[in-house]
Amino acid sequence: MERKYVIRGKKPLKGEIEVSGAKNASLPAICATLLAPGVYKLKKVPKVRDVFCMLKIMKYLGAIYEFKKDYLKIDTTKVNKFSVPYELASQMRASILFLGALVGAFKKAEVPLPGGCAIGKRPVDFHIKGISQLGANINLERGNLIVKTKKLKGTEIILDFPSVTATENLMMAGCLTEGETVIKNAAKEPEVVFLGNMLKKMGAEIKGIGEDTIYIKGKKKLKPINIEIIPDRIEAGTYLVLGALLEENEVIVKNVNKIHLKTPILKLQEIGITLEEVDKNAFRVKRKKIINPIKIITAPYPGFPTDLQPFFAVLLTQAKGVSFITENLFENRFLYVFELNRMGAEIKVEDRTAIIKGPTLLMGSPVKATDLRAGAALVLAGLCAENTTTIYNVELIERGYENLIEKLSGVGADIKVIEDES
Ligand code: EPZ
Repeated sequence: MERKYVIRGKKPLKGEIEVSGAKNASLPAICATLLAPGVYKLKKVPKVRDVFCMLKIMKYLGAIYEFKKDYLKIDTTKVNKFSVPYELASQMRASILFLGALVGAFKKAEVPLPGGCAIGKRPVDFHIKGISQLGANINLERGNLIVKTKKLKGTEIILDFPSVTATENLMMAGCLTEGETVIKNAAKEPEVVFLGNMLKKMGAEIKGIGEDTIYIKGKKKLKPINIEIIPDRIEAGTYLVLGALLEENEVIVKNVNKIHLKTPILKLQEIGITLEEVDKNAFRVKRKKIINPIKIITAPYPGFPTDLQPFFAVLLTQAKGVSFITENLFENRFLYVFELNRMGAEIKVEDRTAIIKGPTLLMGSPVKATDLRAGAALVLAGLCAENTTTIYNVELIERGYENLIEKLSGVGADIKVIEDES
C-alpha cells in the first residue's frame, strides 16, 4: 500500500497548532531506561515511527512498554539481552544509542553499525573511539559492533566534533563507569541537556551539562524515574515557518520553548517575521507583506540547527532578493532543492551553499521526500504553492512528526492522505 499526501496550496491558515514532545529527546531517554532495571513513566513521548522502532528493539531486549493515556510506561526489570537485531536497527540511525546504554548497563553490547543515510555518510567513529577509551574492547563482526569488557574505567575523552548522539552515548556509559569520565568538546543541544538531567534524576553524578566539558563520576547503581519530555524544537521551528509562509496566515504555535530556538527566532526576525507571545510558550506568527533575504550558516547548538534549514529554504523562496544557506554538518542535505526547483523555485547549490532567488511563485507538482526534514519542508512548500502538490515517500515524514495531517487540518490546511494499492 503506497501512502502519499495531496495538498491544495495557497489557502490562508488560521488557528492553533500544538508542538509535541521531542523525538530526539525521547529516543535517548528510552535507551537510558536500560541503565537501572525498573518501571519508568515518560510523559509526552511522541507517537512517531522512530519511537515505535526504538520500542520494538526494547521489547526484543526484554522490556515491556505500553502507551497509557498520559505517558509511556516502560518496564526494564526483565531485560536480559544485549544484542540489537539488524532488521530493526537498520531502520533508524539512532539505534546507535543502544551502544552507550548497553555498555553502561551490561558492560557488553552487540549493535549493528549504522549504514549511510540520505543526508550524509554519518560515520560513528567518535562513538567507537570514546567507548574504547573507557576500556571496552570493540570489534566489527559481520556488520555488528561487538563490545566486550571486564571493567570500564573513567578517562578524558575529547570529541573531534560536538556530536549529539556520541555525547549522549558517552554520558550513558560514563554514569555507571568507575572513576571520572570527562567529555571535552561535548554537544550542548537541549536534547543532550535533557538526557543529562534525566540521568541526574536517576542518581548519576554529572556536572557541566550544556557546557563544552561534562564531568561524570561513575556510580554503582541508578534508579528508575518518571519524567516529562521537552517540547520538540524542530517541530516548533517547522510550525513557526508554516505560520510565516503566507501573509494572510494567522497561526498560533503552542508549547514552544523560545530559549531552545533563540537563533532560528533571530533569523525569522531578520526575514521580517515576528512572534507575539499570546500565552505561556504560545506565539502568534506575524509577517510583513515583503520579506527579506538572509544568510544562514548551520552549526552545532546554539548555532542554527541543520534540521531547520530545509524549512527556511522554502520560506526564503518567497523573500525579495537572494538568500544563502550554508550547510556545515551534513554533506548531502540539499536533496530537497531538486524537488523545490521542480515546483518552480530558483535555487542553485554551489559546494555546501544553497543560493535562493526570490520571490518565486511555487506551483503544485508531484515531489518525493528524500529524508524526514526534506519531506516536511515539501509539505510546507505545497501549502504555499498554487494548485495541487502530491508528496511521495511520506513514511519518512512520519518518522518524526506526530499527527501531522490532523494538526495541519486543524489550522485549515487542505491536505489529505491517499493510500494506493501498489
Ligand atoms: C543528531 O544526529 C540528530 N539525531 C539529528 O537529527 C541532527 O541532525 C544532528 O544531531 C545534528 O544536530 C538525533 O538526535 C537522533 P551528530 P547525530 O553526531 O547525533 C559527524 C533529525 O532530523 N560525526 O551531532 O547523528 C557527522 O557526520 C535528525 O531528527 C562523525 O564524523 O549527529 C556530522 O557531520 C537528522 N563521526 C557531525 O559529526 C561520529 O562518530 C554532527 O553529527 C559522529 C558524528
